[in-house]
Amino acid sequence: MDLKIYQDKNEVAEAFSAYFAEQVKQNDTFHVALSGGSTPKIVFDELADKFGGQIDWSKVHLYWGDERCVPPTDDESNYKMTVEHLLSKIEIPEGNIHRVHGEDEPQGEAERYARELKSGLPAKNGFPQFDLVVLGMGDDGHTASIFPHEIELWNSEHLCEVAVHPESGQRRITITGNLINHAKTVAFLVTGEGKKEKVGEILGTDGGSVTYPAHLVAPTSGNLLWFLDQAAADKLT
Ligand code: 6PG
Repeated sequence: MDLKIYQDKNEVAEAFSAYFAEQVKQNDTFHVALSGGSTPKIVFDELADKFGGQIDWSKVHLYWGDERCVPPTDDESNYKMTVEHLLSKIEIPEGNIHRVHGEDEPQGEAERYARELKSGLPAKNGFPQFDLVVLGMGDDGHTASIFPHEIELWNSEHLCEVAVHPESGQRRITITGNLINHAKTVAFLVTGEGKKEKVGEILGTDGGSVTYPAHLVAPTSGNLLWFLDQAAADKLT
């Protein structure tokens, strides 16, 4: 596990974007699951503005680790957020963008997206493998859209599941634990004061007594990166 702590979220965005660009350079193809929420916005802006013209996007296939069950035009849509902060600013083949159809019937879409992952991702030991899974973490310790009240979804035999947001009741499509932990590399992007408690519990020496979904992220490859800002790492330093 590689813990990378930066002064602020701008530095996190710069460091992750440089890391991403270097990884694409080193690979013939690069299959990535993107995270959603608000943290990626500044990172995608940096990636597009600083590296957008340098990266050979024809090598990059973009998927989402989770999506809200809303149309792609909805402000809650992770796809819409990614279009605004990244996709609208880069030249990437349409066929390399593997959107979750948040507007469709959730269970059917979870099954369809699982089929798309199986057919689109290279397999290792017969199981689909991402080159990189990017994850965020909620103040409650959730990751992707696996929330503490549904932590059993992590061990689902299915690549994708339908989840329910604990407060809003919003339904989500999320990839599950085996697919995440089978990735070549997993990178957390976690910034802000609101995350310090869970970061402290998950990465801190006292470890805490409760297991949160983010605790369960342990790629079998051993390649786990945490990109944190000082505020989120406050309990670690
Ligand atoms: C989502 C996410 C989710 C997110 C965390 C952190 O769709 O909301 O993928 O897992 O990464 O909720 O969200 P923030 O970055 O907004 O704090």
